[in-house]
Amino acid sequence: MSAGLPVRVEHLGHEYDADGERFAALVDVSFSVGAGERLTVVGPSGSGKSTLLTVLAGLQRPTSGRVLIGDDDLTGLTERELSSVRRRSVSVVVQDPRRNLLPYGTAVDNVRFAQRPAGRRAPKRDPLDLLRALGLQSVSGDRVDRLSGGERQRVAIAAGVARDPDVLLVDEPTSALDARSRDEVLDLLERVADEAGATLIAITHDRVVADRLGGVLALDGGRVVTP
Ligand SMILES: Nc1ncnc2c1ncn2[C@@H]1O[C@H](COP(=O)(O)OP(=O)(O)OP(=O)(O)O)[C@@H](O)[C@H]1O
Ligand SMILES: [Mg+2]
Repeated sequence: MSAGLPVRVEHLGHEYDADGERFAALVDVSFSVGAGERLTVVGPSGSGKSTLLTVLAGLQRPTSGRVLIGDDDLTGLTERELSSVRRRSVSVVVQDPRRNLLPYGTAVDNVRFAQRPAGRRAPKRDPLDLLRALGLQSVSGDRVDRLSGGERQRVAIAAGVARDPDVLLVDEPTSALDARSRDEVLDLLERVADEAGATLIAITHDRVVADRLGGVLALDGGRVVTP
């Protein structure tokens, strides 16, 4: 089993090129989350939440500042080293559910596929147990591209937690779900994070999610603000 890793963000800035103009999506963002702790990121649409998450996941390089996962400074790593950190330690569930999954695989295939980086000998959670915990037992053998949006979102969560990551990053994990599925997702995220000691960073618009996971960081216009 893995143990959580601390995440430290120092003076992070990220600019996009928008029609030749520079647009600052993140401005001087600093915070830290201890190993095994939780952080919920909230803020209005366009405030930079998903940008922050993709930078934390090493999927985008920031324009300035540093991101440390454990002792690894992501900003100083080569592409190869970055993908090794991702494989070893970080699971990310991005906002667009189609980007998290292999559309032609079944739900259970997708959860198994997500477990591959853990290595053959690592103890593994049973994919069917994970899908069952999210009310997906009846669609576990169905192709992901035939599932509903909410079902797909839950498969992506099951895949995200499937290898007990050190750091689990989830973007709007409950946006397509009703209250019952939302609670199942929260139960599973909390259970896996507790059992694996994982550090959990979740983005959400949902007050219920933020209240339950706790540790709120609010963004507005790319800056950290007081919620
Ligand atoms: N690839 C991109 N190129 C240019 N601008 C971008 C790009 N991605 C995001 N932006 C801009 O950066 C800002 C922050 O976007 P981001 O997706 O991080 O916001 P968000 O807080 O996740 O919003 P939402 O709650 O709607 O998901 C937005 O103004 C957006 O238009
Ligand atoms: Mg977003």
